[in-house]
Amino acid sequence: MGEKNLNEGLGLDRAAINAMRRSYGEEGLSESNVAADPISQFQIWLKAAAENSVIVEANAMVLSTVSDAAPTSRTVLLKDVTQEGFTFFTNYNSRKANAIADNPNVSLLFPWYAMERQVIVLGKAERISESDSASYFATRPWSSQIGAWASSQSEKLESRAELEKSWEKFSLQYPEGSVVPKPPHWGGFLVQPTSIEFWQGRYSRLHDRLRFTRDSASANWVLQRLYP
Ligand SMILES: Cc1cc2nc3c(=O)[nH]c(=O)nc-3n(C[C@H](O)[C@H](O)[C@H](O)COP(=O)(O)O)c2cc1C
Repeated sequence: MGEKNLNEGLGLDRAAINAMRRSYGEEGLSESNVAADPISQFQIWLKAAAENSVIVEANAMVLSTVSDAAPTSRTVLLKDVTQEGFTFFTNYNSRKANAIADNPNVSLLFPWYAMERQVIVLGKAERISESDSASYFATRPWSSQIGAWASSQSEKLESRAELEKSWEKFSLQYPEGSVVPKPPHWGGFLVQPTSIEFWQGRYSRLHDRLRFTRDSASANWVLQRLYP
């Protein structure tokens, strides 16, 4: 009853709404239209997500790590993607960095719900070079550079005032306009993928799942379709 009233309120009958539902997810991901390698396919989807006005922070990804056999997840920003892998930046003393030191196996999940899409990357994370981290650090806005100095990420903080005091201290040490050096505890990780799965929502829950897995012997990508 409630549903009927709602449909009338929208000026649409149920058949019209069903038709909309059918047309949504019409464009699938198939063995014939997926790119030959998963990085190229990822770049196509990332660009589409970035151009979608509903999606905020298309480059945000959920990074999961495992430490002492227990998983933890948090969002980080993808800053580069090449055939080598996926790069993000963080504090090397943080909980996530300690977990990676314990166990380099990680998962990255891109949740592009507005496009009924999800990408899951599995791989090994390793630190990038100090010089590559420094090059990227130099491109960051001054306030973010000071923030990297000011935050002992993941450590216990007594009060917000303490954080602001720390920021103030480093902003005086490295005034706006000066060259701010990269903190030694800050840098990038490269996630070298072993598996990349593309999920595209389709009608009747008959979603498309295409997974590329790297063959360990040949290093070639092998494509498989999975039940949704
Ligand atoms: C949209 C968004 C983007 C974020 N990007 C980053 C990032 O690029 N690097 C980072 O260290 N933390 C980022 N964070 C904060 C992390 O989610 C997390 O709180 C922090 O890194 C501490 O995680 P840890 O204690 O598990 O190491 C972001 C959070 C959000 C919501």
